[in-house]
Amino acid sequence: MRLSNLINDLPPYHFADAKKKIDDRRAAGVDVISLSMGDPDMPAPQEVVDRLCREMQNPENHRYPEYRGMRALHEAISAWFERRFGVYLEPERDILPLLGSKEGLVYAAASVLNAGDVALTPDPYYPVYLTAATSVGAQPYMLPLLERNDFLPDLDSIPQDVLAKSRLFWLNYPNNPTAACADRDFFERLVAFAHKHDLVIVHDMAYAEVYFDDFRPMSILEVPGAREVAVELHSLSKTYNMAGFRLGMLVGNAELVDAVGRLKSNIDSGIFRPLQYAAVEALNLPVSWINQRNAIYRRRRDLLCAGCEALGMHTRITKAGLYIWSAVPHGYTSRDFANWLFDKTGVFVAPGSNFGPAGEGYVRISITAPDERIETALARMRAAIES
Ligand SMILES: Cc1ncc(COP(=O)(O)O)c(C=O)c1O
Repeated sequence: MRLSNLINDLPPYHFADAKKKIDDRRAAGVDVISLSMGDPDMPAPQEVVDRLCREMQNPENHRYPEYRGMRALHEAISAWFERRFGVYLEPERDILPLLGSKEGLVYAAASVLNAGDVALTPDPYYPVYLTAATSVGAQPYMLPLLERNDFLPDLDSIPQDVLAKSRLFWLNYPNNPTAACADRDFFERLVAFAHKHDLVIVHDMAYAEVYFDDFRPMSILEVPGAREVAVELHSLSKTYNMAGFRLGMLVGNAELVDAVGRLKSNIDSGIFRPLQYAAVEALNLPVSWINQRNAIYRRRRDLLCAGCEALGMHTRITKAGLYIWSAVPHGYTSRDFANWLFDKTGVFVAPGSNFGPAGEGYVRISITAPDERIETALARMRAAIES
């Protein structure tokens, strides 16, 4: 069959490949410890599961759902956002519930970009940014996230002729994969930059609610004037251990939220109502639920950051998100090191270069495994590296 250029040019999705590699090795009897994906290993809150089961019993909920989500969900998102970030979102106008935030990236790009436009893209990046832009004929322009710049893009490095063609600025803090966070000063500079150059910022905040110590990631919508140029994506996947439920939301600029709603309602038919009720239940949980869950992640982060440093793999302390970003030992590329580690120890980490050329020299290690498994992984790594 003759397939489209889009499909022919599409690279394999690294995580689908990785999953196969892990499954094959497990089938061969290897005790694989996978620290490569940001797939929460802890269960969704019991209240959420109970509500989902209850709502499933109601035949009214078996019908087609509302295209743009139930009023009750819009209101729960608005109340959550105001409690968390101190920003009021008008429930119907400024909020669109999604089937996970991933689809929102694709719809946002298709709502903003035309063929020939440029999408300013961090490197390393979440792979969907590239697919979303190129699928509508736009070109990415890579902005390297370098450690010497605290893994923030250098706005002054973008050439004028690129800026003239740029329409969209992908942003993602807490960042996947570098684990970096952006501060208010950076967000303010970026909002001013977007106003000046007529750019739309799509801030992917999938990791907003995994944070440690006294740090709390801020929303770009806290910056005055952001709403005119920015939308933000949130997700219940990492926030409430609900990755399989597929629930997310687009919030912010009302015109773009409406545009994405229009596009989306032409493509899918909304979120199964019992899942929407389950999302309301999650969003109404007290912050103590998040704090208890994050305390577990914090122990894992401490183990991995200290463990990798002790192995000579330079690692900044992660303040938020599900990853640590560690420099590979001298003499290895990211991929060689990840392959070597997997062969020698059964510990699977993601090569930084999977996420773009500027990820070379690092591996991304996820904290989505229990303490004992992380301790075993570190012990195996130590034995392999020392030998
Ligand atoms: C940076 C980033 N954005 C978006 C997503 C998609 O999350 P969701 O499960 O809400 O589609 C992920 C998932 O890993 C991610 O890492």
